[in-house]
Amino acid sequence: MNKPTAINLEHLRALRASGEKIACLTVYDAGFTRVLEAAGIELFIIGDSLGMVVMGYDSTEPVTMEDMVYHAANVARVGKHAYRIVDLPAGSYASPAQALTNARRLVEEGGAHMVKLEGGVAMAEIVGTLTANAIPVCGHVGLLPQSVRQYGGYKVQGRELESAMAILADARALQAAGAGMLVIECVPASLAEEITAAVSIPTIGIGAGPACDGQVLVLYDMLGISQGRQPRFVHDFLAQYGSIPAAIRGYIDAVKSGHYPAAEHSY
Ligand code: KIV
Repeated sequence: MNKPTAINLEHLRALRASGEKIACLTVYDAGFTRVLEAAGIELFIIGDSLGMVVMGYDSTEPVTMEDMVYHAANVARVGKHAYRIVDLPAGSYASPAQALTNARRLVEEGGAHMVKLEGGVAMAEIVGTLTANAIPVCGHVGLLPQSVRQYGGYKVQGRELESAMAILADARALQAAGAGMLVIECVPASLAEEITAAVSIPTIGIGAGPACDGQVLVLYDMLGISQGRQPRFVHDFLAQYGSIPAAIRGYIDAVKSGHYPAAEHSY
């Protein structure tokens, strides 16, 4: 499909409608923004995963609004083409009023086109408040890294019928509240497929199988430079392709052609 110079939400919706997969990566700085855009990435998530891969924390919990604004602004300063989703960090959206103040900062100071928050049914009022104030919102269901202490670790969610139905209800509630996109993290491929069929907004999967409308990986993971044991959905594209630009192009091609994620990357 022909791309507009600056990707917008309408284009991402059109990609979903046409069946063309959306290629997304996380990014946190100006240098990688240039490299990723030159390779043709359509969607960025300036994720609070930066707390782990850039700042050295062992979870995303300590990440602050200042951290998010700083990194989002680094990306926005040079970003010209890709649509930018920026995470509201843990503790920054405890009430509709606080969420609105902080989401406005991400848009005005961080150059966000859309903000992302974690949670489902319980987030409906906040999503409604943000969208009523013209701030596009991306929901995030399944594994919620900001709540990882409650799960006792990074574990696949929605394996049992009851938890799967709750995640499906979360996705529906987010769409009904006005969310324009949905990240689905670490759930069985069959559940992500069901969610993608049940909603009309683009779904972006990470560890959620091939049926989502697009895929995202943490940049440092797909370049093989993250520490520790990697989850099964991570593939090291740098090891496969030998240079960073080739690895990014290889990732985009693999997502677009449906070669990534394969069965071995799915739950
Ligand atoms: O924080 C993050 O980078 C994210 C993506 C991996 C979806 O939320």
